[in-house]
Amino acid sequence: MNDTIYIISGTNRPQAVSLQIANVYLQEFNALNVKAEIIDLQELPADYLFSGLYENAGKSEITMNFRKKMKEGKKFVFVIAEYNGSFPGVLKAFIDGLEFPDSFTNKKCALVGLSAGEQGAVLAMSHLTDILNYCGAHVLAQKPKLAMVSQNMEDGKITNERYMKHIKLQVQQLLDF
Ligand SMILES: Cc1cc2nc3c(=O)[nH]c(=O)nc-3n(C[C@H](O)[C@H](O)[C@H](O)COP(=O)(O)O)c2cc1C
Repeated sequence: MNDTIYIISGTNRPQAVSLQIANVYLQEFNALNVKAEIIDLQELPADYLFSGLYENAGKSEITMNFRKKMKEGKKFVFVIAEYNGSFPGVLKAFIDGLEFPDSFTNKKCALVGLSAGEQGAVLAMSHLTDILNYCGAHVLAQKPKLAMVSQNMEDGKITNERYMKHIKLQVQQLLDF
C-alpha cells in the first residue's frame, strides 16, 4: 500500500478535457503537499481491449504499472466524462483489467463529472458509484458536476468559481475520508 493519491483520467480520447481536469486536481494536491499522480487512460496500449485483457491482463509494461498502482493506492480520484449518458467504455475496460478484489476493497474514491451538456455526468457518476461499491470501494458523497465544461475553462484552468469551490471542498474531504 502507498499514500499516493491516483487521479484516473477516465478516457483515452486525444486532447480530452478529462486530462485537463485531472491536472487541476494534481495541482490542488501539490499545493497541499500531498503526493498525487495521474493515471492517463490515453497511455493504454492501442490493442488493450482485444489483446490486453483476461489471460493477458497486466502483461504489457504500462498495464502492469497501472495495475500495480491501482493495487497499492488507497485513495483515487476518478475524472468521469459523460459519454452517451454514462462513463467512457474504456474506463470500464480499464477496471475489468485490474486485479479483483484487491484493487478496490476498502479503498476510498472521489468522483468528478464533466460534460459538454447540462448534466455534468451525474448519471455517469452514479453508474460508476454502483460498480465501485460492488468492488468494495467507498465513494465520497461530494461529486462535483462540471456541466458545459469547456465554457467554464480557459487555458486548462477552471474559470467558474463555484466549480473550483466544490473541487477544493472535495479534495479536503477526500484527504479526511
Ligand atoms: C463518445 C462521446 C459521447 C459523448 N456523449 C455525451 C453525452 O451523452 N452528454 C454530454 O453532455 N456530452 C457528451 N459528450 C461530450 C463530452 O462530455 C465532452 O467531450 C467533455 O469535454 C468531456 O469529454 P472529454 O474528456 O473526452 O473531453 C460525448 C463525447 C464523446 C466523445
